[in-house]
This record gives sequence, C-alpha cells and structure tokens, in this order.
Amino acid sequence: MRFSLNIDHIATLRNARGEGQPDPITAALIAEQAGVDGIVVHLREDRRHVNERDVRLLRELITTKLDLEMAATEEIIKIACDIGPELSTIVPEHRQELTTEGGINVIDDISHLKDAIKDLHGADILVSLFIEPSIDQIDAAAEIEADFIELHTGVFANAVTEEEQFDELDKIRASVKHGKKLGLGINAGHGLDYKNIKIFREVPDIDELSIGHAVISRAVFVGLKEAIQEMMRLIR
Ligand code: PXP
Repeated sequence: MRFSLNIDHIATLRNARGEGQPDPITAALIAEQAGVDGIVVHLREDRRHVNERDVRLLRELITTKLDLEMAATEEIIKIACDIGPELSTIVPEHRQELTTEGGINVIDDISHLKDAIKDLHGADILVSLFIEPSIDQIDAAAEIEADFIELHTGVFANAVTEEEQFDELDKIRASVKHGKKLGLGINAGHGLDYKNIKIFREVPDIDELSIGHAVISRAVFVGLKEAIQEMMRLIR
C-alpha cells in the first residue's frame, strides 16, 4: 500500500503569519527523502492553505507524484490543466468547513463531473473522485470514466463504538472489491492516524493512502522525517 502525504497544514501554519515559514515546498522535499510515494495538496477556492505558487513549485521540484485535491470548478480545473499534476482528486468544497466533510455525490452531479473528467483527461491528468464507500457512487464513478476513487475514511475514523467502526470497515471492504472489479484504482483517506491505521491496514487491495493531519501534528514533536517513517512502518 502506497502512502502520500498531505502537506496542507504546513501551508496553514505559514499563512498564520502571512510570511514564508514553514515552507510547504521544503516539507515536500523532506517527505520525499523520508520515502513517501507522493505529495497531496488541496488548492481551495479561498486559498486557505496552499496557493498557486506552491502548486507550481511542487510541480517543478517533486520527483514522486503530485495529487492535487480540488473542487470541480471552472477556475480550478483551468489551473490544474495548466500545472499538470499526475492526479487530480475531486472533492466537495464548502467555504465554512474546517476540512473536507465527506465524499462528493457523483450521482447528483454526474454530467458536470463527466465534463470535468474529460477536461482533465484532455490535459493527461488522471482523475480520482473522493466518495463515500457506496456501491452506487462507485458505479457512477466508473460510468463517467474516473481512473481512481478515493474512499472517505472519516466515518470509520470517527466511529465511537467498535461495532460502528467494524460496520464501516465492512462497507469499505465491499467498496474496494467492487471498485477493483470495475477496474478502478482505489485510494483512501481522511482521519487516519497512528492508532486506527493498525485496524485499517487489514483492508486488502487499497492502492494508496492519503494522510495529513495526524502525521503533520506528530511532526511538531518528533520531526517530519520521523513522523513519516513511523507511519510508513505501521502501513507496511
Ligand atoms: N483525502 C482527502 C480527499 C482530504 O480532503 C483529506 C483532508 O485534506 C485527506 C485525505 C487527509 O485527511 P487527514 O488530514 O485527516 O489525514
């Protein structure tokens, strides 16, 4: 299972002072040296963490893989097509949210998403749709020729009881199986941390995990390289 690091929170810390430090570009280069398989950033409409300069520099400097999380808006699709990440992960975006709150509803927005995928494919960018672990959503993602789905693991991560956690894990397992059968690549993420990853890693056939908050938080105490390598040891 591959591991991509979301570095948005490094940019959030930088933006708190409106100056240059800590630079998310430095974080990405350290993360690559530590062994991550890719770098993830979410270019939001309000630019609350990374900005266009960051994404352009990452595109030039990283040697693993750039996964650009984005809303399927005209402005951001245009930027993505110009910059050319290896992967665009389409997420829902609401101004008031603290973080992405759940998957997109592919069924309700199917023709718009189909056009967005076509535009991104036209720029040689693979497309992943961030969705809930639902068979109907996966069918819709395959129908409009997404390359990957990213399964939202937030409900699993926030489950209060063990029963709730295992129920959600069952849904995720069934979704992975169904997605694979349809030829989709399978990523997963949101809310995964050093504790719940020990249970989550038992789910077979996931191609890649996208993790941010837990690793960046731990990095404050032990350093970024150590935090990444601890997570990689748990994943593998
Ligand atoms: N995947 C997606 C689509 C996300 O929006 C986020 C949060 O930015 C993550 C993964 C990573 O979540 P976390 O920061 O909780 O690890």
